Formats: sequence, C-alpha cells, structure tokens
Amino acid sequence: MASGFSRDAAMALLEEWTKGESLRKHGLAVSVCTESYGRREAEKLGLAGAEADAFAEQYASAGLLHDMDYERHPSLEEHPFVGVKHLRELGWPEPVLNAILAHADYSGVARESHLERALFACDELAGFLTACALVKPTKSIMDVEVAGVKKKMKDKAFARAVKREDMTLGAELLGIPLEEHVGNCLKAMQERAGELGLVGISS
Ligand SMILES: [Fe+2]
Repeated sequence: MASGFSRDAAMALLEEWTKGESLRKHGLAVSVCTESYGRREAEKLGLAGAEADAFAEQYASAGLLHDMDYERHPSLEEHPFVGVKHLRELGWPEPVLNAILAHADYSGVARESHLERALFACDELAGFLTACALVKPTKSIMDVEVAGVKKKMKDKAFARAVKREDMTLGAELLGIPLEEHVGNCLKAMQERAGELGLVGISS
C-alpha cells in the first residue's frame, strides 16, 4: 500500500477514533483474521515479497478501520459512512473503503471483491472466537477448538448478539466450508494471541 496508508496508519486512526478497549480489540481481532485471508489470496494470485505484503496490508487495514467510527457514530445513518468519508478525504484506497461499506448490510454496497467478502466473513466470527476463548477457564484462545466453536454456535444463549447466519454466509461467500473458515480464523488468532490479549491466564 502507498506509504501513509499502511497498517500502522490504520492502527493510529483506530486509536484516535476509538477509546474503548473492547472495540479496539475487536478491530484488531478482525484485522488479524482478514490479514490471514489477504496472505492466502496473495499467494493464490502469485504475488510475493513486497507486493504480497502490500496486498495483505489492505486486508489488515480494512479490519482495523471497519468499525473505526462506531464509538462516535453508532447510528445506522452514520456508521460506517462517517468513517469512510473521513478515510476518503485522507485518500485511503477505494478497495478498502468499499470493503468497509460492504460489511454493513444496509449500506447497499454489494460484497463482490475477495476483500469485501473476507471482511464480512471475519467480522462476526472474530467476535465469536473471542467469546469462546473468554469462557475457557484459562481464558486462552489456544484452548479453543473448531468442534467446540461449532457446538457453541448451536447454543443460542451463548454470545447471543453474534449472528450465526453471518458466520455461515461469510464462509459461503469465501467459497469454503464453515469448518475451514473457523479453522483459518482460529489459527490466525492463535498465532497472534499475545497481540490480541488472548494468551489467557497461566495456571
Ligand atoms: Fe465489526
């Protein structure tokens, strides 16, 4: 990505606009998952080195920025439109802006590109995986397993706010089975558990 529109710049914007710890952590968790899909897609496209890095960085940035305006502008009229307007003024690349718009069902922006699909697919799932980690006695993402996540998806009382149908649709949009999507995101979050604050408590 052109300098000025890096993952670091996205992180700085997230921290400027969002003071709440949990919304910051949500952005970071989603970004870890989207970035992993960016890496996979870059490989599929035959990109390597700096080109692959720049490609994945757009995915990471979209994850960090997708709810950037939610704390200040949570209404359906404003989120994510206020954030996207600001990002557009700063000159952020359109693929990132479109993905942020498309993650909101009501924006009218279709999910067509791989980045648009990946962001939507990772949004609810990253939150759900975090919830799965926090109910473990160790509070560690390392103790979460795909089978356990699927079981929890069927438990309607658990993490009620997370829309199961969005997780299923996300996997469909990516063209992979739900188990694989859960496994991909879980692995991405486990690899960066320290950053996410999900290493857990030591026994
Ligand atoms: Fe989100």
